[in-house]
Amino acid sequence: MKLNQPQELDAIEIASRDEIAALQLARMRTSLAHAYAHVGHYKAKFDAAGVHPGDLRELSDIAKFPFTTKADLRETYPFGMFAVPREQVVRIHASSGTTGKPTVVGYTQRDIDNWADLVARSIRAAGGRRGDKVHVSYGYGLFTGGLGAHYGAERLGCTVIPFGGGQTERQVQLIIDFKPEIIMVTPSYILAIADEFERQGLDPAKTSLKVGIHGAEPWTDAMRGEIEQRFNIEAVDIYGLSEVMGPGVASECVETKDGPVIWEDHFYPEIIDPVTGRVLPDGELGELVFTSLTKEALPMIRYRTRDLTRLLPPTSRSMRRMGKITGRSDDMLIIRGVNVFPSQIEEMVLKQSCLSPHYMLEVSRQGHLDELAVLVEMKPGIADASESMRQQCAQDLQHHIKSYIGVSTRVSIVDHGGIERSVGKAKRVIDKRPK
Ligand code: DLL
Repeated sequence: MKLNQPQELDAIEIASRDEIAALQLARMRTSLAHAYAHVGHYKAKFDAAGVHPGDLRELSDIAKFPFTTKADLRETYPFGMFAVPREQVVRIHASSGTTGKPTVVGYTQRDIDNWADLVARSIRAAGGRRGDKVHVSYGYGLFTGGLGAHYGAERLGCTVIPFGGGQTERQVQLIIDFKPEIIMVTPSYILAIADEFERQGLDPAKTSLKVGIHGAEPWTDAMRGEIEQRFNIEAVDIYGLSEVMGPGVASECVETKDGPVIWEDHFYPEIIDPVTGRVLPDGELGELVFTSLTKEALPMIRYRTRDLTRLLPPTSRSMRRMGKITGRSDDMLIIRGVNVFPSQIEEMVLKQSCLSPHYMLEVSRQGHLDELAVLVEMKPGIADASESMRQQCAQDLQHHIKSYIGVSTRVSIVDHGGIERSVGKAKRVIDKRPK
């Protein structure tokens, strides 16, 4: 593991706050103008709020502009918020929407280049260097984890091992055979890989790995301690979300490990009160909001991440850091790195003619991995269905959830009345995971 020397960094990482603010203001102006001129949805929202890109005189004026949420992306599904002709979009990714339809994001070639640069910067901040071998266990495909990590590692000049998720036995084999220095993987999955090492009678602390770059789901400092101790590595936190880019919106420096540094030359962060929408001062806990400063295909103006955290002062870089995500202001669950909204499961339940709308989700942790159980009642008319029919219904639902949402569940059919009826807002989720 190598500590970062100032001459290895991008100049902006250690520029003065004034220089960073000047760059942000110039880029924010361009982004607002680009969004207003090329996305009808933004123009309509800005007009309705009575604001114009020209109203931005200083950075804090961004608070005059309306927020963007997943609902905006849903309304314009799939490509309605793209700000460039579709032929200039060279890549599409998608993440979970609040209902069956995913949230679609697009990138121009320059967006992909910026993304690769920022993930390369993130890997370097973690202690990675040109020539290192990087084992990527984030999922490849529509999820931004795999390809985001991949392009960044290539950009830094690393040798990428594009494994993707799953096949834990083989992950262990290739870590032993290919001897990577770096692994990029969710924190829960690296602990499952540690278990697999031990199951095979091998000591994970004796691998070639030196650095783990973990994100896509919340994790605690206790988990960091366990990962570092079991693998004998430095474990750092990488944060991001598809709507804003993917992994590498913020990433931790190995020399301080004190929260992800937000790459403020590309993303302007705010913390707001999730109820009133008011901007809160740095240091206060609230919802993280981002305005993209350089994105071409999908400019994001004040995107509400729903992640609850705080902005912290700069330490090892000139850019501000974010604290650990303490929760979300919506009901999104993250199960083994997969984002799941209860409303998506509800949609699947309602599609099954044998099932009633009375359901409940139970999240627990088996070993290091999250488990999602779905408890659901049969329709009253068929409540006395045979055991085989109940099993068939459960299997069908399990299959639909896996194929549409991408998460494995355990579905149980319970007797009529088995799910508690609520008198007010239904409580659909019981989260038994240790906090
Ligand atoms: O999870 C992008 C990513 C991939 C980040 C790989 C890091 C590593 P989405 O699928 O759109 O994108 O999910 C984004 O995941 O709003 C957070 O709630 C959560 N999340 C991501 N990184 C972290 C982290 C990717 N380091 C959502 N800590 C975000 C806590 C995280 N939560």
